Parts: sequence; C-alpha cells; structure tokens
Amino acid sequence: MASIALIPGDGIGPDIVREAVRVLSAVGEIFSRKFEFTETLAGGAAIDKTGEPLPRETLEVCLGSDAALLGAVGGPKWDTLPGKLRPEQALLGLRSGLGVFANLRPARMFPQLSAACPLRDCGSGLDILIVRELTGGIYFGDRGRSADGLSAWDTEKYSAPEIDRILKIGFESARRRHKKLCLVDKANILETSRLWRERAEALRGGYPDVALSYMYVDNAAMQLVRAPSQFDVIVTGNMFGDILSDEASQITGSIGMLASASLGAGGPGLFEPIHGTAPDIAGKDIANPLATILSAAMLLRYSLSMDREADAVENAVNAVLDAGWRTADIAGGDLESLKQQGRLAGTRQMGSLVIEALRSA
Ligand code: IPM
Ligand code: MG
Repeated sequence: MASIALIPGDGIGPDIVREAVRVLSAVGEIFSRKFEFTETLAGGAAIDKTGEPLPRETLEVCLGSDAALLGAVGGPKWDTLPGKLRPEQALLGLRSGLGVFANLRPARMFPQLSAACPLRDCGSGLDILIVRELTGGIYFGDRGRSADGLSAWDTEKYSAPEIDRILKIGFESARRRHKKLCLVDKANILETSRLWRERAEALRGGYPDVALSYMYVDNAAMQLVRAPSQFDVIVTGNMFGDILSDEASQITGSIGMLASASLGAGGPGLFEPIHGTAPDIAGKDIANPLATILSAAMLLRYSLSMDREADAVENAVNAVLDAGWRTADIAGGDLESLKQQGRLAGTRQMGSLVIEALRSA
C-alpha cells in the first residue's frame, strides 16, 4: 500500500487536486494498487484555520507518507500578512522539512498545443528539464533589516555538499536524456557561482558521456527565447531556477500543463503543478487539472517506482489532447469553435476524460 498526503491548498488547488486523486484512484483499480490518501492543510487554508501557514501536523503527515501531492498556495486574501506568516512560507517549510533539495521542472511542449507557443520558431519543439536547487541559496540564507528599517539584506550561501548533490542530479538526469548539461549561474559576479563551477569541474570526470557547459543567467534568459532547443538539462540555484522555469513554461505556451517533482535523499517527494492558485477562477470548474494529473504521474514514477502506471497516465493525457479536448487556458483563443465542436472541457470533465482514456487504453 502506498500512502499519499494531499495538500489541496488555496484557490483552484482543491479543484485540481480532486481530479488528480480521481485519476490516481482509477490507476489503483486498473493496476490493482492500493493508495491511501490523507488530506492536510497548508497555505492560506491553514492560516484561516490554525493561524499558521504550515501546522506541525501537516509536516508530520507528509513525513509519514510515501509522497505528497500539492495543489497551490497563496492568494490576495493573505498578501498583506508579514513575510513569516504568508502562505508561501508553507512551501518553503515543506521543502526544507522534507529535505527535497532537487526540483525537477520539465518544460515540454505538447505537440497538440504547439500553436500556443509564443515564439516565432517553435518548429523544433521544446523539451527542457530544469533542475533547480530547492532548499538553499538566497531563499534560505540570512536576511534582515537594520535597526532604522532603511537597509535590508538577503544572503546567497551554498556549501560544496549542497552543490554536489544537486549537480549529481543534473548529470544523472542529462545521462537519461540527451546528455547535455548546462550550469546556469552568475559566475562573473557571484562567489557562490564560482564555487558551483569549481564543483562541476570536480565532478564532470565521473560523467564523461555528458557534455557540460556554462552560461550566465542573463544570457540564458535570452537564449531561452532565442533558441530554446539548444538546451537539454539546465542545472541552477534556487533563485535562478525559479525565474528561468517560469520563462521556460511560458515558451511551451501552457503553464496549465506543467508538472514538477521535488525530491530528497530517499524520503517522501513533493509533487505539484508549477502554476499558482488562480483565485479568480477558483471553484468555477474551469481550471485545467492536467498539470496536477501529470504531477501525480511524476509521483507514481519517482516516489513509488510505478513506471508503468506513470506512463499510462501520461499516455491518457496525450490521448485526450489528441482527441481535441481542451480546457479554456489551452484553447488557444478559439473558445467559440471549441464549444461548437463540443470539445471545451471543464475541470471535472477533463478529469473524467483522462480516466476514460486510462480505462480504454
Ligand atoms: C515556485 C513559486 C515559489 C518559489 C513561491 C510561491 C514561494 O514561485 O514554486 O516556483 O518561489 O519557489
Ligand atoms: Mg516560481
């Protein structure tokens, strides 16, 4: 039996996690697997109920599970709270509490949605994996204010062991893909970046089959829109990875489709769509659940070693897209004609379509 902690969170979080759970339950029936789900609170939902973004119990439920599936946290309602009490703190607390230092963010263009790519040249498609360090750097370094409140600081700090373990994930991921690894940094300015490069030089001998390159982050931001297919795997620190993964997702044209996995050294992984809580469409049955369903597929693959089941979910999503079904966000501005063709799906219906495709595969 596999135990899965569910953290629906805020905004559309509950809408989309519900569909991913229905898909996982169908996978359980089809493949004779037993999943036990425990729902738990984080983010704004937790603040409203308990006064804190990440109650201890939530972390304990996650630590006691094989994996955690999260919707999204945050929203305007909690935007005026002081930094330490904001819903986003729940994410940081979960990441560090679970020790999930490796954030895998695949940015893949679905060929069925290629019209949504905002770039002129999307012909060669796009299939990048961003490996983002997730429990260090400026997100977790010392920060503060001077006594008069008029100076502030945030510190970027990385140790060699922290760098080595994420670089290894980068090398190993590249090895399983097209064998190209690009370390993105700001080594012309930052001492931390220079240490990253030193460590990469020390490790590259162990991966003679992987072509390692270096790129400054400003150039990488430019290259991503100029010629995105030059990249295979990008490995980078917490902050640069945050920024570049949003950029890469937009190149695929469909942020509603992209999943992510956050993994540590053996404990439960944390899986979530890369998009946010979209409070304006919460509860309206129009949010796209596919990124969360695809995150559930990553959960099956990475935390439960159920490759066959993960493939089945990914194939089912493909089949639904092949059949022309779209939620509004991936309709490509063609809502009216989709409606006429009867191919515009709501959140719930999209979940049902994936389940039907799973059953008929
Ligand atoms: C992400 C988000 C988070 C981050 C925020 C919500 C704290 O942007 O997962 O990319 O910056 O890591
Ligand atoms: Mg982000």
